[in-house]
Amino acid sequence: MATVLSGIRSTGRLHLGNYLGAVKNFVKLQDEHDCFFFIADYHSLTTHPKPEQLHQSVRQVLVEYLAAGLDPEKVTLYVQSDVPEIAELYLLLNMNAYLGELERTTSFKDKARKQPENINAGLLTYPVLMAADILIHQATHVPVGKDQEQNLEMARKFAKRFNHMYKADFFNIPQPFNFGSELIKIPGLDGSGKMGKSEGNGLYLSDTEKQLRKKVMKAKTDTGPTEKNSPVSEPVQNLFDIMKIVSDEAVLDQFKAAYADCSIRYGDLKKQLADDINREIAPLRDRIEAIEADDDYLKKVANLGAEKARESAGKTLKAVREIIGFKPF
Ligand code: TRP
Repeated sequence: MATVLSGIRSTGRLHLGNYLGAVKNFVKLQDEHDCFFFIADYHSLTTHPKPEQLHQSVRQVLVEYLAAGLDPEKVTLYVQSDVPEIAELYLLLNMNAYLGELERTTSFKDKARKQPENINAGLLTYPVLMAADILIHQATHVPVGKDQEQNLEMARKFAKRFNHMYKADFFNIPQPFNFGSELIKIPGLDGSGKMGKSEGNGLYLSDTEKQLRKKVMKAKTDTGPTEKNSPVSEPVQNLFDIMKIVSDEAVLDQFKAAYADCSIRYGDLKKQLADDINREIAPLRDRIEAIEADDDYLKKVANLGAEKARESAGKTLKAVREIIGFKPF
């Protein structure tokens, strides 16, 4: 059994790409592995959110992950800032993280470019905090997308450095968790390669059915095939790609055949796609609504998560303090 851990950005609602590409896989993992999932609200302070906004987004993320099927009895689901042990480990790891390597991180350079008026130390040490997140539970596997590979590599480096420095075979060296062929990529409806928040083309789980249909009906297409078996443009291919994931095979085949013989009507294609996406999302939307209204449940979930996470984190931190040489009088 692996110890799988992932941090979840506390900004933004889940869109279909997040759900089918990542969260659905997390839900599958919870029966097979020891899982830790947390909402990374310490990390989000690098962008200076307003206090009311911060709580609201953390709450929204918690609601949506629960709605998506994470079971707080099976996994350790918590809010990062409920676990102060992470902050202490971060402080300790910072002593062995060097300015040069932190400055060279691509994510730091990207963010420094994006917010030149706010290049704070938290941004610089973001990979150290992420290493603390991972190492505090001695995670063995971390599911990471392309954009987080370097950060995981840094966590491995910090773990090895600590072990070497204190001649202790203490920290486990975390590995990327590979979903392999199960990894699903959802393209954008605007002809772009990817559905994403920054792309502004997301179909959100919390969208109403009406909003969802409107977005799908507005999806980019082209002027339509005029010759038999003409090549498929990227925006139309994107629609076929989404259809391949959410619709029955026969339905997809039927539209592909209609494309090939030029009888396709994109309006029909979109309507079918909207129906099938809605079929996937509707139960989630209902659960989001129910959980959103249940303060007591959310409080219970957060408390349970914090308790389990702190127990695990406390063990690691105690050992780290001893290795470093802090001793009680
Ligand atoms: N940096 C990750 C992201 O932006 C979120 C994150 C924070 C994380 N701590 C983590 C992911 C630890 C994996 C492990 O998506």
